Amino acid sequence: MIVFGGGSSIDLAGEIAKNIGCELGSVEVKRFPDGELFVRIDSDTEGDDAVVIQGTGKGQDENLMEFLFILDALHDQAEKVVAVIPYYYYGRQDRAFNKGEAVSSKTLAKLIQTSADVVLLVNPHKEHILEYFDVPSLSLDASHLIGEFFKKKRLKDPLVVSPDSGSAVLAQRVAHVIECRFGNCEKKRLGPGRVVTSAEGLRLRGEEVILVDDIIDTGGTIVEASKVLREKGANEIHVACIHPVFTGNAAARILEVAEDLVATNTISSGYSKISVAPLLTEGINKVLLKGG
Ligand code: R5P
Repeated sequence: MIVFGGGSSIDLAGEIAKNIGCELGSVEVKRFPDGELFVRIDSDTEGDDAVVIQGTGKGQDENLMEFLFILDALHDQAEKVVAVIPYYYYGRQDRAFNKGEAVSSKTLAKLIQTSADVVLLVNPHKEHILEYFDVPSLSLDASHLIGEFFKKKRLKDPLVVSPDSGSAVLAQRVAHVIECRFGNCEKKRLGPGRVVTSAEGLRLRGEEVILVDDIIDTGGTIVEASKVLREKGANEIHVACIHPVFTGNAAARILEVAEDLVATNTISSGYSKISVAPLLTEGINKVLLKGG
């Protein structure tokens, strides 16, 4: 097996290759003067399985083209190609909310599976995205990694809260690992980055709140939830997420209302202190060793 990293996930790919004890493949990526992308696989993958890790930081569409070119070049020579997408971008457009809208997450699936035999995702925004793939696909859950991170912190009176009902299951799973209580806020979205939050069902008494969400983008959801929780009596607010998209000054905005912020490295950021490499290593071994 050879592990390759696209430009946005090269560190993660290195960590995974080390965990598996295999070669980190070499890919040459450059741009022609007109901006077109050129990709060449320099490692010999003849007869080997190839694993390609590519998520996104900023520049989703450039990362996607690079990913598709790497997958396709490998598809012509490797035994089996596994596409690993730590952050499945366009996941929030998982259906047509209004007539005529492109279902972007479905389009992405169609493109990726033209050259991938197996697909691995980490906490896609909606699980039904897996149904958009005709090739075998698996979603891996990083919530226990967040739970383990906070368990080690030994907070005095922890309470895990999600900022909306969509992430309530995530909060429940994190709380299960920490062995503490959990709850959720209610959120109404007024537009991109604009939300109203309430927490009618939560009774707080000076707890150290761990506020968890799957994605933090503009930070609006977390900032509003933090304000509500603080008013309701939270003593401290620790913010955690799986996918740190962090558009603009999201992290700085959050740190104005919370004590700290931590994320996984599905997208690399200054706050990505929790590595999903062990989870992905296990997932890769599972799909390749079971002969699937
Ligand atoms: C939405 O349903 C997601 O779970 C997140 O709550 C959302 O994407 C966060 O976006 P923002 O940080 O822009 O409020």
